Amino acid sequence: MAARAAAGTWVLVLSLWGAAAAVGGQNVTARIGKPLVLNCKGAPKKPPQQLEWKLNTGRTEAWKVLSPQGGPWDSVARVLPNGSLLLPAVGIQDEGTFRCRARNRHGKETKSTYRVGVYQIPGKPEIVDPASGLIPGVPNKVGTCVSEGGYPAGTLSWHLDGKPLEPDGKGVAVQEQTRRHPETGLFTLQSELTVTPARVGATRPTFSCSFSPGLPRSKALHAAPIQPSVWEPVPLGNVQLVVEPAGGTVAPGGSVTLTCEAPAQPTPEIHWVKDGARLSLPPSPVLLLPEVRPQDQGTYSCVAMHPSHEPQESPAVSISIVETDEEGQAAGSVGGSGLGTLALALGTLAGLGIAALLTGVIVWRRRQHQGKERKVPESQEEQEERAGLNQSEVPETAGSSTGGP
Ligand SMILES: *[C@@H]1O[C@H](CO)[C@@H](O)[C@H](O)[C@H]1NC(C)=O
Ligand SMILES: *[C@@H]1O[C@H](CO)[C@@H](O)[C@H](O)[C@H]1NC(C)=O
Repeated sequence: MAARAAAGTWVLVLSLWGAAAAVGGQNVTARIGKPLVLNCKGAPKKPPQQLEWKLNTGRTEAWKVLSPQGGPWDSVARVLPNGSLLLPAVGIQDEGTFRCRARNRHGKETKSTYRVGVYQIPGKPEIVDPASGLIPGVPNKVGTCVSEGGYPAGTLSWHLDGKPLEPDGKGVAVQEQTRRHPETGLFTLQSELTVTPARVGATRPTFSCSFSPGLPRSKALHAAPIQPSVWEPVPLGNVQLVVEPAGGTVAPGGSVTLTCEAPAQPTPEIHWVKDGARLSLPPSPVLLLPEVRPQDQGTYSCVAMHPSHEPQESPAVSISIVETDEEGQAAGSVGGSGLGTLALALGTLAGLGIAALLTGVIVWRRRQHQGKERKVPESQEEQEERAGLNQSEVPETAGSSTGGP
């Protein structure tokens, strides 16, 4: 009976206090596992004191008045000699309201109310399973952002090139998951981002993820950003090999430039193959043969190594050495004398001369050829003669170059 009467009094007092708390309540946030001290305003700093602490938290069913003498609650909260309340190690269950009512030496009453919230800073968020490349036009998983061990739950958000990335049901989708540790009560958040990159857009987008704690005035935590490449879909077989001079025939000592054209993003690594064997050269889209020697002759191709595809090989080109006329070199030396326009004019004339000469040779050859076709029986002999001449030429060239160095 007495207890119930007392409870009735408390209800009345509480409702009065409640009204006061709405005005004078103070929000306190405390880190989980750390001590927290709440001061009892208006209380004398030393005993004897007239004060009372009570609390309503996750550990209590209703208001619990703490005995100034201490007891089983000491490990959770105890009243210090100066009247303050000490929570030696704050836990999630300590979230709630704490109140103190004190009377000073002159009998004036002061009430203090604290709303205690607790928090735990999670580890730095991390993007796990990051995509190394994205294919435009189709949904791609970019990665999963994970924040572990935070309280309260907080939120994860994604950014693309510094701008917030919101799920829009079209190109951007986010799948979130929140788990709670059964013992510690701490949260693990996961956010999996899926995007459909535009066919034309940034080739190296930066995705970042940040954790915003569910507390006011607290700083966000940022995961290390990731930069997947956006790959252009490469239809197979379009690696091209461009050879300069065109046709791949070059005078002895001349230079040949082979350029591999593999239109892909990111630029694939280009390796070179000669006569079916891979050349041990650092990857490069250009292969320069500065002074072509007989051993440089052969069949060349390039192989593009893509991060997302099978390697692609270009069609092969063959490089061969042919002897040129002296006239071509003479024209070159005139051009090199530095007489400007005159040299150019002379060069042009020389060029025209060569062109005319060549035309003459071709016409003459064709006539001879046509003549040959008419007299078939004799041609066999002629061809054999020609073959003999050609064969005698080859060792000569080989001999001259091996004697050179
Ligand atoms: C304390 O927190 C509550 C909500 O949690 C808020 O409405 C109130 O304005 C806060 N009071 C102060 C003094 O910050
Ligand atoms: C009472 O003592 C504690 C611990 O020594 C201290 O943290 C707190 O500030 C004191 N309270 C007041 C009102 O001085």
